[in-house]
Amino acid sequence: MEALLQQIEGYKAEMQAATISDAAALEQFRIKYLGTKGLVKAVMGEMKQVPADQKKSFGQILNDFKLFAEARFEELEASLGNTHPETRNSQTDVTLSSSKGRNPNLDYSLPGEPIPVGTRHPLSLVRNEIVSIFKRLGFAIAEGPEIEDDWHNFGAMNLPEDHPARDMQDTFYINKPTESNGATWLLRTHTSSVQARVMETQKPPIRVICPGRVYRNETVSARAHCFFHQVEGLYVDEQVSFADLKQTLYFFVQEMFGKNVKVRFRPSYFPFTEPSAEMDISCLICGGDGCNICKHSGWVEILGSGMVHPNVLENFGIDSNKYTGFAFGMGVERITQLKYQVNDLRLYSQNDIRFLKQFTGVV
Ligand code: PHE
Repeated sequence: MEALLQQIEGYKAEMQAATISDAAALEQFRIKYLGTKGLVKAVMGEMKQVPADQKKSFGQILNDFKLFAEARFEELEASLGNTHPETRNSQTDVTLSSSKGRNPNLDYSLPGEPIPVGTRHPLSLVRNEIVSIFKRLGFAIAEGPEIEDDWHNFGAMNLPEDHPARDMQDTFYINKPTESNGATWLLRTHTSSVQARVMETQKPPIRVICPGRVYRNETVSARAHCFFHQVEGLYVDEQVSFADLKQTLYFFVQEMFGKNVKVRFRPSYFPFTEPSAEMDISCLICGGDGCNICKHSGWVEILGSGMVHPNVLENFGIDSNKYTGFAFGMGVERITQLKYQVNDLRLYSQNDIRFLKQFTGVV
């Protein structure tokens, strides 16, 4: 033990005599005495050799030695000259710098550079919300390709090549080498193509929701865009009725827009559903009194829907005598417009940070 005591005294004398001229020398001092492999740690390690009855008094000596080393370090540090007085004055910071070896010339108390945090795109927020509402009703998510063939986008959906309803959608056709039986390629004009993809691989009961981007050859303006987003729904099972469709969509609207919103169904036409209906909701902006958004009618259209046409089911070998189904497709931009009162479709793709930063949401 005597030897150890002498060693400690020797180190103390050495530290007392030490002089340093720059930060690098100070750092060397710190590493030598206070570092993880430094002498203070090494001496502390000797504690296990000390007989039990001397442990207490030795513990005291070792602790004093450690405090001595730390105090000497601080002294030397202060002697270096002080470019950042705030650091030096802050008691906690000096302790930290001595024990963790921080750069003494930095002021750790200065506030940091703010880290820019992104926000989700309003269309993503709304799409996620739509999807989460239908998930609660037991719908699963299905996705399909944006570059589609003629069959999945039109043919399977009961629009043969010469069907006049193909004019309803201006299509971007693609010059793609026709590798599979002369198929024509296009950018999908609606997410109904995902219905085809799902029925190709799944048998009823089918309950899916299909979010995705679609394309139409439109001149870009405040009210039309060459691409936009839809969410498709498809439910096929035994005894699915129009009442199920209405109730499902009514639930969706109430969850999305609140309990006071009214809905109405208007007869419509889609080749892939029969009967077909478009659904309007009472205008959220004016509460039904009439405004620009609802063109003074008090109602705004939000989706197309209907009972899946028997031909569509049969296209996929689903027995239309046994199974029925409903389908619907809604525009995400339209719902976002109603939720956030965005009146120009172009804003969604211009990437103006001032616009994008305004939307916050949990999903
Ligand atoms: N695909 C239709 C459209 O893009 C919407 C729709 C989907 C209508 C499903 C009925 C059933 O306008």
